[in-house]
Amino acid sequence: MAESMQGLKRSHRCTEVSIANVGEMVTVMGWVQKQRNKGGIIFVDLRDRSGLLQIIFEESDCGAEHFAKAEKLRSEFVIAVEGVVEKRSGAVNSGMKTGDIEIRAKSVRVLAEAQTPPFPIEADSKTKEDIRLKYRYLDLRRPDLQGKLMLRSKIVTEMRSFMAKEGFIEIETPILCKSTPEGARDYLVPSRVHPGNFYALPQSPQIFKQLLMCSGYDRYFQIAKCFRDEDLRADRQPEFTQADMELSFVDVEDVLEVNERLIQHICKEAIGLEVSLPLPRMKWIDAMNRYGSDKPDTRFGMELVDVSEVVKDCGFGVFTGALENGGSVRGLNVKGQGAMPRKKIDALVDMAKGSGAKGLAYLAIDEEGNFKSSFAKFMTEEQLQNLVKAMDGEKGDLLLFAADKNTIVWNVLGQLRLELGKQLNLYDPKQFNFLWVVEFPLLEWSEEENRFMAMHHPFTMPMEEDWQYIDSDPGRVRAKAYDIVLNGVELGGGSVRIHQNDIQEKMFQVLGFTKEKAWEQFGFLLSAFQYGVPPHAGLAYGVDRFVMLLTGADSIREVIAFPKIKDASDPKSEAPNSVDAKQLEELGIGILEQTAQTEESNE
Ligand code: AMO
Ligand code: AMP
Repeated sequence: MAESMQGLKRSHRCTEVSIANVGEMVTVMGWVQKQRNKGGIIFVDLRDRSGLLQIIFEESDCGAEHFAKAEKLRSEFVIAVEGVVEKRSGAVNSGMKTGDIEIRAKSVRVLAEAQTPPFPIEADSKTKEDIRLKYRYLDLRRPDLQGKLMLRSKIVTEMRSFMAKEGFIEIETPILCKSTPEGARDYLVPSRVHPGNFYALPQSPQIFKQLLMCSGYDRYFQIAKCFRDEDLRADRQPEFTQADMELSFVDVEDVLEVNERLIQHICKEAIGLEVSLPLPRMKWIDAMNRYGSDKPDTRFGMELVDVSEVVKDCGFGVFTGALENGGSVRGLNVKGQGAMPRKKIDALVDMAKGSGAKGLAYLAIDEEGNFKSSFAKFMTEEQLQNLVKAMDGEKGDLLLFAADKNTIVWNVLGQLRLELGKQLNLYDPKQFNFLWVVEFPLLEWSEEENRFMAMHHPFTMPMEEDWQYIDSDPGRVRAKAYDIVLNGVELGGGSVRIHQNDIQEKMFQVLGFTKEKAWEQFGFLLSAFQYGVPPHAGLAYGVDRFVMLLTGADSIREVIAFPKIKDASDPKSEAPNSVDAKQLEELGIGILEQTAQTEESNE
């Protein structure tokens, strides 16, 4: 039977008790990790969010009634124990923070009994993630998850205090917003009062923070929930948290400067990591050419090499064909892997195809300097030698080549580089490499939409020196946009915003918006801009990603208390779910039959 707390008060968390408390009476509360009955003596490991503490029960100390209760304790019972702190009688457990002490119990109360949990509550659980997520409230008892969530809290606290000290004002922006195009798909919320109309959940507070700049709050900050209906990945959730900021009367340098100090502060306070400033910077085009990615992992080399010039007159149609179509031929030198078995190379070829390549050409150099290659027969000995030279190829190396449009070649080799870096242990997983990627293109061509799209968003300021090309060569115009990258993950991004009417109108025109359409979508922002808008710029971090990297987690699911799974559902509460016909009726919503059928077949 569960007992009450009446008259009891917790004096310490489990690991707040130490050798300094020997001889004192303490009251501790928590969950039974383990109970071991050794006959006349019972050991209990008590667990709370701080860690473990050993309790020892002997009838001579606690009396028959309490000893009998201790005999019945099982894992995950919730108990309160009053007892005296002692130096540990048995061997000191150096793996435990409280390994040199124990509590000699005087009394115990069973505050709640518990069923046997579906999996053991312990660090480094081997239990499958889907089961753990179904019982997330139990999973969250595990010390490694608790550690990560506590570190998350620390990081957010440090962000807030740093931002406050720097003069940023925390302001909340709405969750029920207007749906706007561009960006990811919106989550929609039907309006009861306006049947047939919908709110959208914010993908970010972007427009609101720009309005706040118009209102004069020249440094804004918010820990903001954001929602995007995108396919999930290890670093993507449908709802996630941004540390969002906007500043007035600033240019790129000002934003980067305060953010570098913010990063330095967080790393120091959260994990004791010293980050030296300034952080390195790389132009977008260099990131793509060298790493095949706009978020390069600079912890290891193996950079891409453009060999287009070297192979332009060779006899290999795959290479020359790609060049004739305006593409490029680039390679990776996988040092010392010339003897990689054919099967493994084939797996790399498959991977390349998976990232959009038509194939992957290879040339292996054995220890005698002989070549084994998928394309040697199409080239003269001299052409092969020149290619190897351009790649810095030596005996024992494996050279991989992709030929296609630039975007495909970058992506394919960029992915291969990351995979090989991991397979061959080319980097120290404990190293932290921050990098600013700057000078992004303003626009990117969308094959799907057959028009230019904003690479960041439509309010991003072009670089002044490039604006002259906006009509003649829009793809050439760079933006005042920047991303902060950590170990190959995009931690955050932002830009200087357009605050001049003429540039904004031109931008909408290039993006294919009519003036009417632009006003329909963004009228409240454009209108605000007519009443005195300061130059402004901002940035937002993905808090979940930041915490994931600082805690060494493999996925952001590990640093979110209640994450969604791959199909964006929650296995614990079973959201999303169907709703009452009455609720739908009130909202003026009917469900298409086809959708209803699909739902049934999913059940
Ligand atoms: P952006 O779209 O780049 O910029 O988002 C900023 C950062 O948010 C994180 N992020 C995500 N994290 C988890 N799950 C997701 N689905 C997800 N999507 C994005 C990333 C990303 O770098 N308003 C602009 C910022 C600005 O210009 O000031 C914005 O939202 O870490
Ligand atoms: P094929 O002529 O299609 O048999 O290809 C000869 C070699 O070139 C094979 O090793 C293919 O994997 C490779 N290959 C095909 N297309 C490409 C490409 N776009 N880039 C690089 N290698 C390719």
